[in-house]
Amino acid sequence: MPPSNDRSMTPAPESRNPSASRSLLDTRSLSAVEITKIFEHADQLKALGDKHGNFFEPQSTIHRKSALVCLLFFEPSTRTRMSFQAAAYRMGHQVLTMDLLSGSSLAKGETYSDTILNVAAMEPDIMVVRYGKSPELDRLLPGLPMPIINGGSGVQSHPTQALLDAYTIRAHRGELTGQRVLIVGDIIHSRVARSNFDVLTKLGAEIGVCGPKSLLPNENEVPGLRLFHDLDQAIGWATVYMALRIQLERHDSIEGKRSGLDQYRQDYVDHFGLNRTRLKTLSKDAMIMHPGPINYGVELPLEIQEDPRSRILEQVTNGVLIRSALLSRALGEMPG
Ligand code: CP
Repeated sequence: MPPSNDRSMTPAPESRNPSASRSLLDTRSLSAVEITKIFEHADQLKALGDKHGNFFEPQSTIHRKSALVCLLFFEPSTRTRMSFQAAAYRMGHQVLTMDLLSGSSLAKGETYSDTILNVAAMEPDIMVVRYGKSPELDRLLPGLPMPIINGGSGVQSHPTQALLDAYTIRAHRGELTGQRVLIVGDIIHSRVARSNFDVLTKLGAEIGVCGPKSLLPNENEVPGLRLFHDLDQAIGWATVYMALRIQLERHDSIEGKRSGLDQYRQDYVDHFGLNRTRLKTLSKDAMIMHPGPINYGVELPLEIQEDPRSRILEQVTNGVLIRSALLSRALGEMPG
């Protein structure tokens, strides 16, 4: 992250944002009822899409305004960024984005905060922001004068991913209550896992985690969370298997740097990879999920592409619906 030089631009206080209730910075601000409303609106948009190809009635006399949606991603992204873009176009909105490091004034040393404040001054209707660990941006974003949607922040929060994950499980199982979701991998560095703990628990699912001890949360960190150290035992428990990648870019120090990355990877694959043998022991009815990007041969085998239990591309499709519903919510157009 570029150095801070933001003293000239004081972050706006939270109270200056009249649309704060339509922002989505963290799933902790959502109740189970609100999450269900988002899912129901995504269902309605899907029905419109099936009928018209886009998520609005072409002849509607109460057609809402076409909004300007700004995407500011300070970390790489394929799914989140492009599905917000797809969602915006499907809703009839306009998208403002930029090539961050090569094509913006970040290359001249402008800070992320100044970049955000300058783009906000262009008065987009909604801003979607992704960033790494940054207490400065955590403070700045809630005070901006338009709804803000978090596209993934540090290791803390990835609200839209958790919502689309839960929506995908609901599409197959009807409800989350009674589901046993096993999240496998680098849990402590995963914003996807953290947001999923919150959303899935609120909706009634049980959650188990499995991975190397050094990558698992403390037993007391998440109430009700089941910790598994043996994947072969955990597999028998799961109705949903959610694999995560090891996020080396977020490791301050990793065992791999000491023991050699290849050895670290092989140990990981042996103990925590869903290999062909383990695929056979996973229930025939289980759902297999992954937020992407996948490291084939590490957390999942290449064969997963042909496995009928895989819901990984459905997650991506549902991501467009959920993000469309969240754009409606941000504009105050989601049915109450
Ligand atoms: N799941 C997810 O956040 O993917 P991207 O990093 O490609 O957006």
